[in-house]
Amino acid sequence: MAGRFDLVLRNGTVVDGTRAPRFAADVAISGDRIVRVDRAGAPGGARGATEIDATGKIVAPGFIDAHTHDDRLLLSAPEMAPKVSQGVTTVVAGNCGISLAPLPAGAPTPVTPPLDLLDDGGGWFRFRTFAAYVAALREAPPATNAALLVGHTTLRVATMDDVGRPASDGEIRRMREMAREALAAGAIGVSTGLYYEPAAAATTEEVIEVCRPLAEAGGLYCTHMRDEADRVLDSLEETFRIGREVGVPVVVSHHKVVGRTNHGRARETLPVIAAQRGAQPIGLDCYPYCASSTVLSASRVAVASKVLVTWSKPHPEHAGRELDEVARAMGLPRDEATARLLPAGAIYFSMDEADVQRILAFEPTMIGSDGLPHDAAPHPRLWGTFPRVLGHYSRELGLFPLETAVHKMTGLTAKTFGLADRGVVAEGAYADLTVFDPGTVGEAATFAQPIRPAHGIETVIVNGGIVWRDGRPAGARPGRVLARDARA
Ligand code: ZN
Ligand code: CU
Repeated sequence: MAGRFDLVLRNGTVVDGTRAPRFAADVAISGDRIVRVDRAGAPGGARGATEIDATGKIVAPGFIDAHTHDDRLLLSAPEMAPKVSQGVTTVVAGNCGISLAPLPAGAPTPVTPPLDLLDDGGGWFRFRTFAAYVAALREAPPATNAALLVGHTTLRVATMDDVGRPASDGEIRRMREMAREALAAGAIGVSTGLYYEPAAAATTEEVIEVCRPLAEAGGLYCTHMRDEADRVLDSLEETFRIGREVGVPVVVSHHKVVGRTNHGRARETLPVIAAQRGAQPIGLDCYPYCASSTVLSASRVAVASKVLVTWSKPHPEHAGRELDEVARAMGLPRDEATARLLPAGAIYFSMDEADVQRILAFEPTMIGSDGLPHDAAPHPRLWGTFPRVLGHYSRELGLFPLETAVHKMTGLTAKTFGLADRGVVAEGAYADLTVFDPGTVGEAATFAQPIRPAHGIETVIVNGGIVWRDGRPAGARPGRVLARDARA
């Protein structure tokens, strides 16, 4: 059937996000939707006001970054270059207990780590309600869609005079009300970062009680678990219990097992997750690197084989350098140099590559970058995650077929987070699409040169608008705040 459409991607090979085998097709878009997928050989003839030749290229659903800290980037750099340059069209923000909103009484100064990963004194913690944050995103839309979590650590900082203790009943009630407000304003769930100091004193019961509004709102629970090292199995049990008692799905964030003595233990954690998935909904995400990144602290330095400084407030000149080198330059032992750099961020080499591959290849694992967009010398996952999975892990190592790689960053993620009509190339779905070259797609960002757009990502489309083309942002800002549909 012939027809006239806004945009036609012609002669591409569709990898549709469901893990089905690829097929040749023309894809036609009108407004914000995919309206036709004409398989090669079927009567075609779709004509577009704009046409893009996708011969030799893959046409995939736009990638969904399952784990981000893009709450502020969506406002401060709305072209979202680190993300759209990788083919990402939707980000899940507010992870690890860290969300930009709400702070009813304003931001404490200086803002407590790890909240300073989002903003260190730049005035971005200015949203007194979650609704005010969502309104700001709607007034000045970014290039990508966003699905938002409200962070338990933000709620603690907003509510408690001392975050080093468990919350009182009254504080729990206030946090629960703020979680309810956030969910009503458009958040799709609550995140925790029980590993980090401002939430480490929270009891399991506190988290359960704060998360109660999730059940009614149809939200989900995402967690940077209390322990990703020796006690990782206990943390998994705690996560499952919270999901069961609140009655909602859980997502284990950036699953990993850290510390040399724990190398290989994904062989224990993955069967535990697989078995429990028979009893309750559990998802997980992973980034494709064996180094982590967060705020700098002595305890994390102690278990890492190598540490890179990503930013330092008092010593910005050391961003990008190895901690040992900085210590030598300062003429100080490692721990004293660490103390001098604070507040600061770091990259820690502390994981086992074989575990990273086991976790990536695990069937329910989604791809999430955990990129830190405001670090001066960021972990390369910020610009490299998705192309690295497609290029290094799928094409070069053969860890899984391209169809599986794409599914882990599209259809699986949309299903896990309940993002209706996203993550698939199908008639009627939203026109979030990424056109890439399967022979060259790969990350350009490295630990030495972390800020580099990926290879092979040709055209990226969000809600029908072109956001990345010819290696640069294309200008459109069609992003939306996405709701969760628990039935999607
Ligand atoms: Zn985290
Ligand atoms: Cu994170």
